[in-house]
Amino acid sequence: MKRLILIAAVFIMSMVAVAQRKLVVSADKLLNPVAPTMWGVFFEDINFGADGGLYAELVKNRSFEFPTALMGWRENRSSYDKGRILIINKATQETNTRFARVTIEKEDGNYALSNEGFRGMGFHKDKQYDFSLMARVLTPGAMQLKIQLLNNAGTVIGSAAINDVTTEWKKITASITATDTAQRGKLNIVFEGEGIIDIDIISLFPKDTWKGRPGGLRNDIVQKIADLKPGFLRFPGGCIVEGKDLTNRYQWKTTVGNTDDRTLIMNRWNVEFRHRAAPDYYQSFGLGFYEYFLLAEDIGAAPLPIINCGMACQFNSGEVVAMDELQPYINDALDLIEFANGAITTQWGKLRNDMGHPAPFNLQFLGVGNEQWEPQYIERYKVFEKAILAKYPNIKIVSGSGPFAEGEYFNYAWKELRHLQPSLVDEHYYKPPEWFLKNANRYDNYDRSGPKVFAGEYAAHIKGNPAAAEGMNSWEAALAEAAFMTGLERNADMVQMCSYAPLLAHADAWQWRPDLIWFDNLKTVATPNYYVQQLFSTNRGTHVIAITEEGKPLTGKEGLYSSAVTDAETGTLIIKVVNNAATAQMIDLNIMGLKIKKAAVVIQELSTKDLSSCNKLSELEQVKPDTKEALLAANKLLYTIPANAVAVLKIPVKKK
Ligand code: AHR
Repeated sequence: MKRLILIAAVFIMSMVAVAQRKLVVSADKLLNPVAPTMWGVFFEDINFGADGGLYAELVKNRSFEFPTALMGWRENRSSYDKGRILIINKATQETNTRFARVTIEKEDGNYALSNEGFRGMGFHKDKQYDFSLMARVLTPGAMQLKIQLLNNAGTVIGSAAINDVTTEWKKITASITATDTAQRGKLNIVFEGEGIIDIDIISLFPKDTWKGRPGGLRNDIVQKIADLKPGFLRFPGGCIVEGKDLTNRYQWKTTVGNTDDRTLIMNRWNVEFRHRAAPDYYQSFGLGFYEYFLLAEDIGAAPLPIINCGMACQFNSGEVVAMDELQPYINDALDLIEFANGAITTQWGKLRNDMGHPAPFNLQFLGVGNEQWEPQYIERYKVFEKAILAKYPNIKIVSGSGPFAEGEYFNYAWKELRHLQPSLVDEHYYKPPEWFLKNANRYDNYDRSGPKVFAGEYAAHIKGNPAAAEGMNSWEAALAEAAFMTGLERNADMVQMCSYAPLLAHADAWQWRPDLIWFDNLKTVATPNYYVQQLFSTNRGTHVIAITEEGKPLTGKEGLYSSAVTDAETGTLIIKVVNNAATAQMIDLNIMGLKIKKAAVVIQELSTKDLSSCNKLSELEQVKPDTKEALLAANKLLYTIPANAVAVLKIPVKKK
């Protein structure tokens, strides 16, 4: 008897636990198109995202151009009088002013220079590495170099010999295969013989770069970005565009042309946060605007460059260029459009052609300023807008609304911009998960009379300071973002571009977290937030359709959020459901407006009960999508969404 009561109690409890929700999809009423740019990526050189990350160069400070000329380098010698180094500065040269002169006086003993890379160098067993340097000797024939890859313990795991240095500067290359894997390896150059040698631009790249381009990008990181199938690529930031002051701003013209001549500057994240200082963080611009355009093209994303609008970071110096001296900044904007789209007979189109891309990059969007605020922004923005649209009326300008998602600066910017002609206004929200959950209806009643919205930087920031670098990328945060994103999708007429930020972080060298993709010198890991982004971006659809409960959109009642689209190209209804409740919920789904006798439904699910779960580089992923199938019959589907879950239901229907 007791046992029966117990079973009955468990049965009733389980009935109570799985609440039933009756959702109705109006499949035949296409509401608004979803822009192809809806879900994109925001790239900034923060957290060693470019140098030390996406840009596959393994040598830090390869040309001795860091202010501390030997930063990243170390001399190793058997005795002090064996060898020495001088840094020679040819200040008359416009670019790459320094080189190193190594003098070896005695043949016995040894002298070597090692480079520590970016928190070490990653070498993969059996993979090939391309070494190069510029060199000349002052006394011919007397010196040889041994190039070595060292593992974490300092053991040689690959080497090559160089003995053809001449008295003329020339580029010398060598290919080295690593015999072992090392996460924090080093490059070592041993100087043998006797004499004086000048060296510069010492470089080491994996052979296996993205698309096999020499001096290119890290394959595994690009692949992760490409797998998001982003609709756009915003670059190069972020605050990096503004600079701490105007001299530290991002100037795209210094990032194109021959890589060796690109002038290095300090990365503003070097000094931004005292608790995460990175004194060795500089921008070599090996990854510059040409490479960003190429990357966008490779991954099928619309390029969205952002340019400085004559204002440095208002949180830092607040330095602005005088209004009557704005022209060079405007020229940078106009010349950039010419660089991307101009005929190869134009000055900047020619440079694009000379760099290897005669075809235009089809630039359609241009951002003017990042997180600027108050009248000083609007007055500068107006000048940019006038000049850009006068010459290029089809360019869609993206303006900013400042760093905050609401409040005085935000309201002022929108009030002014509504009467101007930006196509999109960039909004940023780094907020706690609760904010995202509460704001799933943020755009439901937005004023639709003016520009559209670019949700340009967002991420849910949980409380606390988890020990693991990846710990802030918890499932709690990702789930809240998913809930919010249903609101973005429902309002796809108003919100036409969205990107999580920042995109990349090196686990040993980050300044800001959470981030979408973590990496170390050997591998990458997708965060739960990444999988949420991917579920949305790879299931974008073409038109919004309504999904309601009792005639109302689902914006969080009892933890349930939902949005729906149809994909006219593939003939699929795509329904996103987010359950932020701690219990499972039964979805009783009714498709209206179409007759579907039977359909095999594919369900992609992301779920885990533990909200603090995250994916770490050192472990198997805890949160990753799972795929199931279900049968829809006579327009109906019963589906139980687990507690704390995001689900995408794909229902094949007839193509229009
Ligand atoms: O994404 C990190 C920073 O956050 C960006 O550089 C800036 O735009 C925002 O404040």
